[in-house]
Amino acid sequence: MTQPSISASYMLKNKNINFKNRIVKSAMSEGMASENYLPTDNIIRLYKTWADGGVGLLITGNVMIDRKALGEPRNIVLEDSEDIDLFKKWAEAGTSNNTHFFMQINHPGKQVLKGVVKEAVAPSAIPFKSDLQRFFPKCRALSCEEIEEIIQRFASTAELAKVAGFTGVQIHAAHGYLISQFLSPRHNQRKDKWGGTIENRFRFLSEIYQAIRARVGDDFPIGVKINSSDFMKAGFTEEDSQFVISELEKLGIDLIEISGGTYEKAALFGKDAKPSTVKREAYFLEYTEKLKEITNVPLILTGGFRTSSAMNEALTSGATDFIGLARPMALYPDYPNKLLENKVSNLSIKPVKTGLPFIDNKGLIELTWYNQQLVRIGKGKSTKPTFSPILALLLTIFKNGKEIFEKRRV
Ligand SMILES: Cc1cc2nc3c(=O)[nH]c(=O)nc-3n(C[C@H](O)[C@H](O)[C@H](O)COP(=O)(O)O)c2cc1C
Repeated sequence: MTQPSISASYMLKNKNINFKNRIVKSAMSEGMASENYLPTDNIIRLYKTWADGGVGLLITGNVMIDRKALGEPRNIVLEDSEDIDLFKKWAEAGTSNNTHFFMQINHPGKQVLKGVVKEAVAPSAIPFKSDLQRFFPKCRALSCEEIEEIIQRFASTAELAKVAGFTGVQIHAAHGYLISQFLSPRHNQRKDKWGGTIENRFRFLSEIYQAIRARVGDDFPIGVKINSSDFMKAGFTEEDSQFVISELEKLGIDLIEISGGTYEKAALFGKDAKPSTVKREAYFLEYTEKLKEITNVPLILTGGFRTSSAMNEALTSGATDFIGLARPMALYPDYPNKLLENKVSNLSIKPVKTGLPFIDNKGLIELTWYNQQLVRIGKGKSTKPTFSPILALLLTIFKNGKEIFEKRRV
């Protein structure tokens, strides 16, 4: 049997779906929607550029299921069929060049920038740590009725994604957003059937998955992005994560992407990674090695991969089936072609630092700086690896401030 490498194709069991290679462009929120939260020409150009760049599977940035629950200004929202034609154009761009294109669907819960929504909601009315409170608004606990409505919204958005021509959906259950808040005993202290034991904390994700499956049918792939752990005291642990993945496997999940951390603890960007982890590049490799002993669901491992040697090693060792790349794809959209043609073996990507510790220790500066690279690609410009992080921060404050204060409150 030949050893899998990044260039090997992958057939998704029971779905008759073939990925042309093992490279996945992980979700990156574009922040480039129109005033009505719809895909724009620039977003369509961005995804065409990525599809031309050779990746096997493209995953959109998080698309919100409700325009009253944005995570950031200019998120894309898919909640009714009225504007489906624009989503069809987007799907067409992302599926060109024999590329699979999944829509990531999300509800931010309380992890929403201050001023973006009138009211933030969460499983329980528990604020973030004090140093993050300046960025996020106060929140209130969801009622049971609202929880049921959100589950149905996830299902409607997934169904519309299928109608538009996306070849799959990914439920965002990682990084501290609403589903991740439900999974965490730190953020979910409900006393009803939605909180308490891990069985109860998992119920929200389980019902979302089942509601989506009922609408999209058995042949349409559904993935989940999930944390290995939140890395927070009294938070979602590796044991919880393993439980959730085993249960999702029983329910019939097709693909699981592993990440970790939240904006409180930015492990997703490798903050505080151990030297032994840095050497093997991928931040959550040890975790997927353990997972492979308990699950047969195909895995995407995301976070830290930069060189083809580390990617191929992770694949041949059997620790993962796919390699997820985000920041490299924001700087080098044709990186998959280069990797596959063996034209590059090493990529230098420096940490993004403003010199202001209370900014640099969180994930927000990485989002801001890389987001502006996406905007450049969308405009048809080349990326700018030397772009100043301070300038990126000022631009975002200016842009978001303008968005928020120009009657964009919803
Ligand atoms: C600008 C930007 C936006 C992101 N938006 C999302 C998102 O919408 N959904 C998501 O699951 N992860 C998001 N991420 C996290 C990435 O998908 C990925 O998990 C993380 O960047 C680590 O992978 P990397 O080392 O290849 O960058 C974002 C990352 C960046 C840099």
